[in-house]
Amino acid sequence: MTDTCSSRRGFLKALAMGAVGAPILGRAQALEAALTSSLDGLSFRADSVSAVRRLRDQYLLSPDLIYLNHASIGTVPRPVVDAHIGYLELCETHPSLYVWGDVWRVLAEGVRAQAAALLKCEADDLAITHNTTEGFNVLAHGLPLSAGDEVLFSSINHAGAAVAWDTLAERRGFTVRRFPFPVERGAELTQEELVALHVQAVRPETRVLVIPHVDNMIGLRHPVREIAAAVRDRGVEYVFVDGAQSVGMIPVDIGSAGVDAYAMSPHKWVQSPKGLGLLYVSEALRSQLPRMWHKTAESRMDGTARDYEDYSTRAWPAVVALGDALAFQAALGAAEKDRRYRALWRRVRDRVDSEASLAWRSPVTWSLSSVIMAVEVVGRPAPELGPELLETEGAVVRSFGGGLNSLRVSPNLMTSEEELDRFLDALAARGA
Ligand SMILES: Cc1ncc(COP(=O)(O)O)c(C=O)c1O
Repeated sequence: MTDTCSSRRGFLKALAMGAVGAPILGRAQALEAALTSSLDGLSFRADSVSAVRRLRDQYLLSPDLIYLNHASIGTVPRPVVDAHIGYLELCETHPSLYVWGDVWRVLAEGVRAQAAALLKCEADDLAITHNTTEGFNVLAHGLPLSAGDEVLFSSINHAGAAVAWDTLAERRGFTVRRFPFPVERGAELTQEELVALHVQAVRPETRVLVIPHVDNMIGLRHPVREIAAAVRDRGVEYVFVDGAQSVGMIPVDIGSAGVDAYAMSPHKWVQSPKGLGLLYVSEALRSQLPRMWHKTAESRMDGTARDYEDYSTRAWPAVVALGDALAFQAALGAAEKDRRYRALWRRVRDRVDSEASLAWRSPVTWSLSSVIMAVEVVGRPAPELGPELLETEGAVVRSFGGGLNSLRVSPNLMTSEEELDRFLDALAARGA
């Protein structure tokens, strides 16, 4: 059992809070104990068929589905679901304590510390939000920009990191420019080309660059640190990263990335309850970026990223369960997770390469790739294939039309080789 499950420490602090916290403590400890024992039994190993099967048993996914859409929305493991339900029930035993009691806030601090450890940043730099989109709204609403300032991103940038800028540009006086990302050449792009692509797009008026760490179409792992350093040399002041698809799937080291803000959606690859986000805001940026929500008097704000989550009433049970999701992922082991993801990527890639009817559209090297994989079925429009595969195979994937014309295959650690092969057989049979 990993010691990152620091919500347990939070409960001990809650005990110290006295009688008002005590009624929830007994139940909470039982929930914690249940979670701990299920994590102890995981002993996940990337190369063990039985370990993958054991892991699969932890999920509620329908056995009728081949769920290859973890990039759209993740699925919460049963121990975390159970813990979450337990926290919800606890809330209902003392509802006003739920809203106003400090117990839940203390627990949330444990979650923040866990997230900071995973992301290699300070807990004070992290807000626990609702999703990536909210993070970008905070940035687009508050960043001190004015007429003549430009916000820049590529055409591969997701709506959640783009539309807030588009919508607020006119009102706030800044401009937004998209440069074309050569998604059709995604397979062959090198790190150097990726850096050059961003640097060449910068103009003297560009003050902000937004980049996805991992995009949602071809799963390209952007070289964030290199791009950030290069565009800063060209005068870009703020680099903001869309980490919706990275946290929980690939290693993230915000502390050394040289970026100002990093917004995340742990309901995807951390497999937390839905509607939970994280937002890193550097200390330097915080002094310029006002908060978006206002419930607490300005004089009581503390200048940390907590100021960006002044929501008043909120879903504390889900926030606490985020800590359990982080603990679950940590118990699997970062190295074993990476090995397993890489093995899944290799299996899909090798099979696609061996079939004349299939084409690989994601980066060809693992260092630039991820388990978000774009596969074209030659001669078949992807948007019509998606529903067909669901109907006939129970396979859940996302389709992208246009120049990419691909199915997005996004498995998870517990996806079996047998499921992947069954899906790929079905694809190969449909190609021209
Ligand atoms: C790359 C990327 N950015 C942002 C988002 C938006 O995430 P959310 O809806 O959690 O805000 C998504 C969702 O799929 C995404 O894939």
